[in-house]
Amino acid sequence: MKVVVTGGAGFIGSNLVRLILRERPQWEVVNLDLLTYAGNLENLTGVDEHPHYAFVHGDVADRTCLEAVLEDADAVLHLAAESHVDRSIASATDFIRTNVVGTETLLASVRRRGGLPVVLVSTDEVYGELPWQDPRATGPRERFHPSTPLAPRSPYAASKAAGDLIALAYQRTHGVDVRVTRCSNNYGPYQFPEKLIPLMVTNALEGKGLPIYGDGLHIRDWIHVDDHCRGVLAVLERGSAGRVYHFGGDAERTNLEVVEAIADRLGVGRDRLAFVPDRPGHDRRYAIDWSGSAEELGWAPVVPFEQGLRSTVDWYVHHETWWRRVRDGSYQDYYEALYGPGGRSTLSAQP
Ligand code: NAD
Ligand code: TYD
Repeated sequence: MKVVVTGGAGFIGSNLVRLILRERPQWEVVNLDLLTYAGNLENLTGVDEHPHYAFVHGDVADRTCLEAVLEDADAVLHLAAESHVDRSIASATDFIRTNVVGTETLLASVRRRGGLPVVLVSTDEVYGELPWQDPRATGPRERFHPSTPLAPRSPYAASKAAGDLIALAYQRTHGVDVRVTRCSNNYGPYQFPEKLIPLMVTNALEGKGLPIYGDGLHIRDWIHVDDHCRGVLAVLERGSAGRVYHFGGDAERTNLEVVEAIADRLGVGRDRLAFVPDRPGHDRRYAIDWSGSAEELGWAPVVPFEQGLRSTVDWYVHHETWWRRVRDGSYQDYYEALYGPGGRSTLSAQP
């Protein structure tokens, strides 16, 4: 089995590549990644020498590159994306290019190649926001269901929804074997420190403030990246074409609760919490019902949030060289050593 993972140098992709090489020792993995600011080959240190692993520096919007990579592939796990909401608010251009055009280019290439399944890793943010509900309140809770209408609100979510719907359309119209996953907020090792949890941990470790948008009562459901990656593999191995699968951690928390837990783990005083102006169009709450997918796939999250958060905070404490290099941008030197000056933007297909 030869699996192409797009975006395998990013946060979830690199954890997925590691999981596959660890738990599916017969499989071969080809990591197709453009190495944008979020792609970092240091996320794969130790993996790069594995005999079943190959890296291709390329773009999912590049048809020629895709044709070469897909030639002898058996499956595609499509994670490559622009993934940060705040960046999409600053400018949505790259989001449309990769998440919409790149996804369609990939689907068209798979269609021409024929016969291989694609798991499109989408997000619960395609559903928009839910009304606020106290995470601690008992009783019925409103959650996203696979039948909930898509109503994305940020440019990021809208670009993911477009790619997600185009993928389902390719399945219905052209019979391409596409399976879509929609997952809640991931956390864990190797997450780029622009997202809430690694940003707060690294700011705290650097003695900086912890910026909380608005009133800090926005709610996210948190899932450990390992649980999500196991779900993606389950979809490839036991899922069906045209289906939408949900993954979540059953761990709804306000941002304030998450940041306070991080501060407590690091022994940082509450005086470092800084309430800053809210994100425009900030979704109030996400929560996802994954029961149907669990039943169909035999999947369930196993990492309890408080335990996973502690181990994640400790991971950043013990990987200071990694995050300092990411934060100051010097990890890009690593690319230059591999590809030469400007190598990050030089597209090439070298499976
Ligand atoms: P990330 O930003 O950490 O990584 C994205 C990766 O894609 C990077 O390695 C980047 O170099 C690569 N990439 C970007 N544009 C590319 C292109 N045109 N061609 C090839 N590679 C390209 O993202 P992540 O958090 O690991 O998310 C991975 C996927 O999971 C995304 O599709 C995202 O929408 C989805 N998702 C993320 C979360 C989350 O909480 N992080 C939750 C649900 C779904
Ligand atoms: P983020 O990690 O960007 O993920 P998403 O927007 O995709 O859910 O943000 C998670 C939550 O944390 C979201 O409600 C915005 C909030 N947030 C802050 O309060 N401060 C910050 O500095 C960041 C990056 C996010």
